[in-house]
Amino acid sequence: MKELESLKLRIQNIVESYESEEIGGWITGDGPVPCNILFIGEAPGKTEIEQGKPFVGMAGETFQSYLQSIGLSRDKIRITNTCFFRPIKKKLSKTGRVTISNRPPKSSETKLFKEVLDDEIALVNPKIIITLGNVPLKRLTNFDSIGECHGKLYFNEELKRNVFPMYHPSSLTYNRNDEFKTIYEEDWLKLKEALKTM
Ligand code: URA
Repeated sequence: MKELESLKLRIQNIVESYESEEIGGWITGDGPVPCNILFIGEAPGKTEIEQGKPFVGMAGETFQSYLQSIGLSRDKIRITNTCFFRPIKKKLSKTGRVTISNRPPKSSETKLFKEVLDDEIALVNPKIIITLGNVPLKRLTNFDSIGECHGKLYFNEELKRNVFPMYHPSSLTYNRNDEFKTIYEEDWLKLKEALKTM
């Protein structure tokens, strides 16, 4: 599809012109176009860059298992990111070794991809957008934090689309308690119900 190829070239151009920070590679979205269901994450990590696809690392495994739990599979959804490159930070250890880790994208970095993501959304033309975590939420809606809006369906007047905010799958790694896990699992069940209304 030539529109997807053009999106890819635009992402490549933005990445190659970005000089403010060192970054760790880039990817595009993945999945059918058009598609009724669009998930939007934060930014790729190491495994995503290695495999050239979003959500194939640790967070991706969690994501995929919950997706399956509500009867969906990757080939039925489109998934993309708010920032298309891997934001990294480097640390020098006491032994002189450099370690590279992920960091959240800055808002100036997600802004670089505003038009690209808007155009991807238009091309995918989804009936529902599921934002994963705070980064896509803040980029696409006026909510301040995922805590105030997760697990509910909203009609976003600016986008003229249904938006369903969810916690990022990696939040399960940071919040290792049963209470959070229950809330997270309930949100997936609420998404399953919301999808029935589409
Ligand atoms: N987390 C994200 O937000 N996006 C990915 O592509 C992978 C992990």
